[in-house]
Amino acid sequence: MESVVLKGLRMSDMKPKAVAISRRLCDLVSTSRQLVQTVLAVSGHAYPTGDRQLHPSVLDFMLARRSTPVKDLAEPAPTDKEIETMLTVASRVPDHGRLTPWRFILYRGDVRRQIGEALAARAIEREGALPEPRIEQERTRFSRAPLVIGVVCVPKESPTIPEWEMFLSGGMAAMNLMIAANALGYGTNLITNWYSDDAEGRRILGLAPRERVVGFVHIGSYDVELLERPRPELKTIVSDYVGPWEA
Ligand SMILES: Cc1cc2nc3c(=O)[nH]c(=O)nc-3n(C[C@H](O)[C@H](O)[C@H](O)COP(=O)(O)O)c2cc1C
Repeated sequence: MESVVLKGLRMSDMKPKAVAISRRLCDLVSTSRQLVQTVLAVSGHAYPTGDRQLHPSVLDFMLARRSTPVKDLAEPAPTDKEIETMLTVASRVPDHGRLTPWRFILYRGDVRRQIGEALAARAIEREGALPEPRIEQERTRFSRAPLVIGVVCVPKESPTIPEWEMFLSGGMAAMNLMIAANALGYGTNLITNWYSDDAEGRRILGLAPRERVVGFVHIGSYDVELLERPRPELKTIVSDYVGPWEA
């Protein structure tokens, strides 16, 4: 405690009253940390208990994270400022070699319906005559949610870093984008669908030939209770290392 320095001021230099207040504050911080740790322990959550600042709210948020069905994503869309925040978070991801192998395309307003018409025409070109409900499905692909953000992987030339890792970084950008949108109160759903695997579909959506779709993140407000889905049991996907793989 005596070594605590506040703005360059040593405890020993401070007036007694200020010292007492500082000590009380230190005690309070320590007590709150212990309280948080106790609550977490009781609730069965194994969170870190070291000296670093705990963020239980972030962990609880992540433990409850889930997608919103696209049909439930409605206006209002995020504001420009919120979109900027989301994209700033999205671009703050691990990126081997600092290649920035991704970019984002915003689909909003009237262009969403125009894209739908082009996708419907492309679907007919690929599959032949289609029933009206299916054509309507294609027409509305990008206009169900008020905002769709395309996360696009832009592979960069690199003698050392495999393209695979660039796609992984793109996946992280998409995940960060969704988490940021969720943190701002919006629902999200990542969709790829047939047009991501079709060169002409990608061209319609604004991608260059070498670029690939990580996902189209549908974003909007929602007013429904999100249903839980089964999650994998950790014991089925986690193990200690037991040596090299043997077939
Ligand atoms: C790469 C990728 C592509 C996906 N593409 C589709 C899709 O085309 N159509 C669809 O209905 N769901 C698709 N999904 C699944 C949705 O994102 C799904 O709603 C989500 O995984 C639900 O899980 P969550 O609640 O844990 O987010 C895709 C998921 C991933 C990871």
